[in-house]
This record gives sequence, C-alpha cells and structure tokens, in this order.
Amino acid sequence: MTAANISPISPTSDTGLASHSLFVCKTCASAWQDGKRIGESGGQKLLQEIQQVAQNWDLRDEFPIKEVECMSACNRSCVIAFAGQGKLTYLFGDLPIEGCAEAVLECASKYYSHPDGLLPWSERPEPLEKGILARIPSLSLN
Ligand code: FES
Repeated sequence: MTAANISPISPTSDTGLASHSLFVCKTCASAWQDGKRIGESGGQKLLQEIQQVAQNWDLRDEFPIKEVECMSACNRSCVIAFAGQGKLTYLFGDLPIEGCAEAVLECASKYYSHPDGLLPWSERPEPLEKGILARIPSLSLN
C-alpha cells in the first residue's frame, strides 16, 4: 500500500476498536527502594495530567489514552507513543513530568490529521521537538 491509497481516517477499525492509541508509560520516573516503587511515579503524574487535559480534547473518543507498564526506554523518561492504523508509530522520550500534557495532545491531533501520521520537526510542539526515540514504519508499508 502506498501513501496515495491509504484508507481515509476513521475513528474505529473494522473490528470496532479505535484506530489510534496514545500510550503513556506509567512506570517512568519511579523511585525505588528494596525493589518496590515508592509513591507515585512521574509517569503516573504525566498520565493523570494528560487524562485531565483530554477531558476537553475533541479526539478523546477516537484517540484513547492507554497506560502501559514500560516501553523499554526507561533511561529516557517520561515516555509516550503514538500509534495508528496504517501510520508510522512514534516513540517519544525525555518528556517532563509536568506541563507537557497540552503539547502531547496537540501533537497527537497533528498525528491523527496526517494520513501517514508524519510529524515533521517544524510541526511538533516544543516538548516534542526533540526526544524522538523511534519512528517505526506502518505494517501496511510496502
Ligand atoms: S519505565 Fe517507562 S519506558 Fe520503561
């Protein structure tokens, strides 16, 4: 499949599942003692802030926020990812614990709008200009 014949963006797939996901690592920036996590992690705080801001986000139903335990980028916390059917998958790191939720959702909206999910540097909000850890091709790429 080429970029020219990618299906139009739809909020759900044929299976009824949302076609986009915003993954947030809830384990990032944890404090550990004797093998146990102490208190609330930075990732949990970031997740809560994103969820709070997303209450007024027009894509909240089409682009669900999903908490995950780890995305194997632990030394680059906080970490989030955008994934969508037929799109690039982006993994971002080095996000601050506080104050970037609006930028994350703004960037997610740009990702949603672009048929390939492409997020050029110049179009990404400041906290996400740097810190791309991976840009993985779509499964539908030929
Ligand atoms: S703890 Fe967040 S990526 Fe591993």
